[in-house]
Parts: sequence; C-alpha cells; structure tokens
Amino acid sequence: MTFVVGENCINCKHTDCVEVCPVDCFYEGPNFLVIHPDECIDCALCEPECPVNAIFSEDELPDDQKEFVAINAELAETWPNITEMKDALPDAEQWDGVANKREKLVR
Ligand code: SF4
Ligand code: F3S
Repeated sequence: MTFVVGENCINCKHTDCVEVCPVDCFYEGPNFLVIHPDECIDCALCEPECPVNAIFSEDELPDDQKEFVAINAELAETWPNITEMKDALPDAEQWDGVANKREKLVR
C-alpha cells in the first residue's frame, strides 16, 4: 500500500505535502508531484495537507484515476526528490478541479 498523487495536482503543485512527509518520498516534475511507492510508509500525513485534495490512499483512489498508481511509480524513478515547500504554480487556483488535466501532465 502507498499513497498516490492524483490528477488534481497537475498544474497546481502546491507542495504543502512535502513539508510533512517523514521519509521525503515526494519527487518533482515540471507541473506535478509523485510519491515513490516503495518509500511511502503510509502515514497519511500528507493527504489532508493538499489544498486541492489531490492525494489519496491507493485503495481510495477514484476508479477513473487508477492509472495514477503506475504514473507515480514510473515517474518517481526519474524525477528529482523534493523536500521543501515552494510556491505553487502561478495559475494553480484556475486549474483546481479542471477535468482531464492528465493530458497536461509534463513528464
Ligand atoms: Fe509521505 Fe506519509 Fe504521505 Fe507516504 S503517506 S507520501 S510517507 S506523508
Ligand atoms: Fe500537488 Fe497537492 Fe502536493 S497540489 S504538490 S499534491 S500539496
């Protein structure tokens, strides 16, 4: 089991989540963060910290976001680690809740 960053992080990237992770298992891409599934200890601290509710326990991930399990696992192997909060992306508020953002994911 792991926690998973889902679609609503795309183009928002608030990064509040990284501040609370005790094992520093977030990895950063241009417009999205992922969780390394082998490093996450399932503590659940990050889930309530995300202002746009983008983080889910793997078993609570909505059916239409199941592909994000594989996306997190894949990109955590290539993107750099992030351990400190930074500014959200400039248009984060406008992108909150926009449908089909997965097409905007920059790898
Ligand atoms: Fe880090 Fe805990 Fe969130 Fe896993 S559940 S990513 S260990 S804060
Ligand atoms: Fe993304 Fe939410 Fe973290 S928008 S960067 S999962 S705080």
